[in-house]
Formats: sequence, C-alpha cells, structure tokens
Amino acid sequence: MSQPAVLFVCLGNICRSPLAEAAFRAEAVKAGLAVTIDSAGTGGWHAGNPPDPRAQAVALQHGIDISRYRARQVTEADFTRFGQIYALDSQNLQDLRRMAPRRTLARMGLLMDLVPGREGQAVIDPYYGDEQDFLEAWDDVSEAARRLVARMLR
Ligand code: 4NP
Repeated sequence: MSQPAVLFVCLGNICRSPLAEAAFRAEAVKAGLAVTIDSAGTGGWHAGNPPDPRAQAVALQHGIDISRYRARQVTEADFTRFGQIYALDSQNLQDLRRMAPRRTLARMGLLMDLVPGREGQAVIDPYYGDEQDFLEAWDDVSEAARRLVARMLR
C-alpha cells in the first residue's frame, strides 16, 4: 500500500500553505512518519514563484529553508493523489470542493479544525499584513501540524 499523502491549500501557495507544508514536513520527519506532503493554491497567479520573502524569513527563523518551494495551482490529479487535503481558510475549502471531481475519495477539511478550540477558524492571511501576521500564521500551522502528526500516528 502506498504511504499516506497530505496536501495543504491556500489561495496563492506563496504564504500560508508553504508554511503549513514546511511545518508538517518538519513534524513528520521528527516523528519518523512516512508521508507524501505538498502544497498548492486554488489560484494560479503565482505559479512557478518561490514563497513570499516574508514567509521564507519566518520559516528560516524556525530553521527551515523553503526557498526552493515553487507555487502551483491545484490540479484534478491532486484529488486522487492526496487522501487528505487541508484548506487554510473556509473560502479555500469552498473553492476546493467546487474544483473536486464529483467522485473524489479525498477527504477535505479546514486545517484549524485539527486544533481543539480553534475549529472553524482560518489561518490568518498575512499577504497584506506584516511580520507579526507571518509569525502568527507560523504558530497556527505548526500547532495544526503537531496535531495532524499525532493523529496519523494513532
Ligand atoms: P497565500 O497568500 O494564499 O497564503 O499564498 C496570498 C498570496 C497572494 C494573494 C493573496 C494571498 N494575492 O492576492 O495575490
């Protein structure tokens, strides 16, 4: 059987979902969890671009180099390749569900639903914000990443 596969999805795939990918990758490695991990955007405007420099900076502050990540848009194949797809906010989730093939088996949900007490909440979109917003986004995706690893180990 192939290993589990998790996809993180935001709008542009240059701020929030690359951070979620990086945080989850680090937690999975730490836990020795074999899992396929990627991120993508519901929109394609930034396709081929590296993460926002501010996202790169906050990841690096936490010891993770994401400079080689490249943005891409969600594709139909993602809905067969990934068993679990986590949206960073509810608009992303709504768009994802609209993009999904009718017969998809992929489970889609809101990332912060993984964190008790934070159900239904969005990871803050820091694109028009400042460094503090990127730090807050990092904290949120890291907490969700720890919860997801713990859940997958059960
Ligand atoms: P992300 O952030 O969805 O977290 O990657 C954004 C990136 C780009 C835009 C908005 C949010 N934009 O409007 O171009």
